[in-house]
Amino acid sequence: MSAPPALAASSSTLAREVAKRRTFAIISHPDAGKTTLTEKFLLFGGAIQTAGAVKSNKIKKGATSDFMDIERQRGISVATSVMSFEYADLLINLLDTPGHKDFAEDTYRTLTAVDSVVLVIDCVKGVEEQTERLMEVCRMRNTPVMIFINKLDREGRDPFDLLDELEEKLSIQVRPQTWPVGMGARFQGVWDLDQSRFLHFRPGQQRRSEDLVSFSDPADPELFAVLGEDPAQTLREEAELIEGVYDPLDIEQYRAGKLAPVFFGSALNNFGVQELLDAFTRIAPPPQPRPTDQREVAPLEKVFTGFVFKIHANIDPKHRDRIAFLRVCSGEFERNTFYQHTRLEKKVRFSNPYAFLARSKEVVDHAWPGDVIGLYDTGNFKIGDTLTEGEALQYRGIPSFSPEIFREVVNRDPMKSKQLDKGIRQLTEEGVAQLFIKEPGSKKIVGTVGELQFDVIRYRLEHEYGAKCEFVHLPIHKACWLTAEKEEDLEAFLRYKSNDVAQDKDGNWVYFAESAWVLNVSREKHPGVAFHENSEFKTAGAEEPV
Ligand code: G4P
Repeated sequence: MSAPPALAASSSTLAREVAKRRTFAIISHPDAGKTTLTEKFLLFGGAIQTAGAVKSNKIKKGATSDFMDIERQRGISVATSVMSFEYADLLINLLDTPGHKDFAEDTYRTLTAVDSVVLVIDCVKGVEEQTERLMEVCRMRNTPVMIFINKLDREGRDPFDLLDELEEKLSIQVRPQTWPVGMGARFQGVWDLDQSRFLHFRPGQQRRSEDLVSFSDPADPELFAVLGEDPAQTLREEAELIEGVYDPLDIEQYRAGKLAPVFFGSALNNFGVQELLDAFTRIAPPPQPRPTDQREVAPLEKVFTGFVFKIHANIDPKHRDRIAFLRVCSGEFERNTFYQHTRLEKKVRFSNPYAFLARSKEVVDHAWPGDVIGLYDTGNFKIGDTLTEGEALQYRGIPSFSPEIFREVVNRDPMKSKQLDKGIRQLTEEGVAQLFIKEPGSKKIVGTVGELQFDVIRYRLEHEYGAKCEFVHLPIHKACWLTAEKEEDLEAFLRYKSNDVAQDKDGNWVYFAESAWVLNVSREKHPGVAFHENSEFKTAGAEEPV
């Protein structure tokens, strides 16, 4: 059988480079151990030499709303936005995600650029609020998930309860791959369910080869001698229960985002991390095809395509340069080559594209599917923008979620209204916040997921654009994107709720519901109108945007 034309010409180099890459993110509720696990992965990959080398880009608890603090922290995150390292003959691109809840939108967007994720859960706290939200985003795209249950050196929850909670709250099937023996002070190590091995836990000590011992099965008398009668008996019973209750790991199911393998360990003690990383290299998917508004694009297609999923402001106030992070989706990206910016319908060229190696960045000549490159931008890019070799494609699926806080922007300096307009537009294009325009009067309403963004916007408007504004709080519970099969249904709703509707950056209609109750009443009264909680309704169903 001959390959489709676009694939037939693909060079073996492209196929080799694609097969080598794994692009993923580590996600967690703040404080579950994402930064610690990241650091251990980088140590294994030889990308850093000492513990403590990775600066967390999270904003420490108790941080004031001082903008410079935030920006300093976020400045660090440019360098750690993408960390590439080699392990087991693979080139692994680890995309960092901000831990602070107020920057959750950044994380959601980063998830559009990965092929899989590792979710970290604190064994004491279980599934937390932010975890659920992040997993919702993963489920929207069926992103494969591996779960690391962390902090086993602490007295945590019963492991079976944790697994039940994962399945229930995250709506995903799980399959334990390792199993803890004891917890907290009684924690002895983990049993490798697949390979009948026991890994000894020695807190604070370097791992030695003799820490990993193979046994015939969990009933092996030798294991009883090692663990002691009671813990060994418990392990044997629990291992039997697991085999009875949980289906074996099916890699296809994992790759389809339906089944999550679960590992137990302690990131701080570098315990169970190598098992997780080894399993990752065995089963995590290479760069996957991605949907555009026109068609699905396969990574092995010869022509280059990619999209921008994140824009980072340069923190030097004298320059308004920004760095746009582009994920290569197909073909080979080459430096100094003209590419088509499909939204602006113009050719663009980059002389200094950056790749990120641990904490340093370096200019690259080529990049391959799965890679993330940093492009200097003077204001040409919006989140979601697509580059191609000429084809008019638009990558899909950079959703906007309903913000939680809404404020109207009021100009404080009438002489600077142009600067204010420009600043608000550019900052919202960068993804700092969402902008809605409400008529009459083209009022600007800014929606965010956290208070911090308002400080960021106010500060940057003043320092980068010379504009001054105030924010007036609006009592809005939720923003819902509206669609209707019949135009007249939508028009009727827009008339009826003319005081509570606005348009988003793409001209889609959005309804601002003042409470959950009012939203329900609106739904009941207008059955012909669909209310979407995020802007990705195009992929969610057959409806087309208004
Ligand atoms: P995050 O990026 O998900 O927000 O979490 P981070 O890795 O920063 O870890 C949060 C806290 O949990 C840190 O302590 C970290 O040392 C601790 N931690 C991570 N893994 C483990 C583990 O396996 N066992 C235990 N007992 N603790 C763990 P901190 O005191 O908040 O910060 P730091 O002063 O240690 O940096």
